[in-house]
Amino acid sequence: MDPTEKFKKNARAVYSMMLSIFAVFAVLGAFLVYLTIDPTFSAFKSPKAMEEYTSVSETDDYDKIENGIHVRTGFVEGEGLMLVVNNCTNCHSAKLVTQNRMSKEGWEATIRWMQETQNLWDLGNNQEPIVNYLATYYAPTQKGRRQNLTAIEWYVLED
Ligand code: HEC
Repeated sequence: MDPTEKFKKNARAVYSMMLSIFAVFAVLGAFLVYLTIDPTFSAFKSPKAMEEYTSVSETDDYDKIENGIHVRTGFVEGEGLMLVVNNCTNCHSAKLVTQNRMSKEGWEATIRWMQETQNLWDLGNNQEPIVNYLATYYAPTQKGRRQNLTAIEWYVLED
């Protein structure tokens, strides 16, 4: 091959290679710009945006109480509330707890049953305030039972 032809051919090859490298960097650059601008891509969020994101999920609703009810779970406000929220809503909904009414012994037995069969952890020093909360606010009520009869007009059976 003619040496000038050969040189031209090599030059074209080098040129097109440089073009492709440039194209790759251009695409990468555009992608980086996109990531920085796109608000849904959290890794490139500004510190301020990240702060807003965590504050909404962790502080605003976490222990918010309205009209004596813990909004997020429906538990009644009272001493030991957050212990119950933190230990009793991890595996099942708070409803499973609030729809039940038991005595202190009943709650203790339920907790023991979950510890023996459902992998509930040892509640340690928290067990007492938790059981006290449950037995106070979710105690058995008399309402479900038949009320005592009053003002009955008895009739006499005749034989
Ligand atoms: C490690 C998981 C776990 C934790 C934490 C947990 N439970 Fe349970 N609990 C269960 C499972 C599993 C069931 C059975 C659910 C079902 O039957 O659908 C259950 C059922 C119950 C029931 C219904 C029992 C019945 O006889 O139907 C009550 C009430 C209850 N849990 C209260 C609590 C209370 C109060 C706490 C906090 C001290 C708590 N749970 C924490 C796993 C857990």
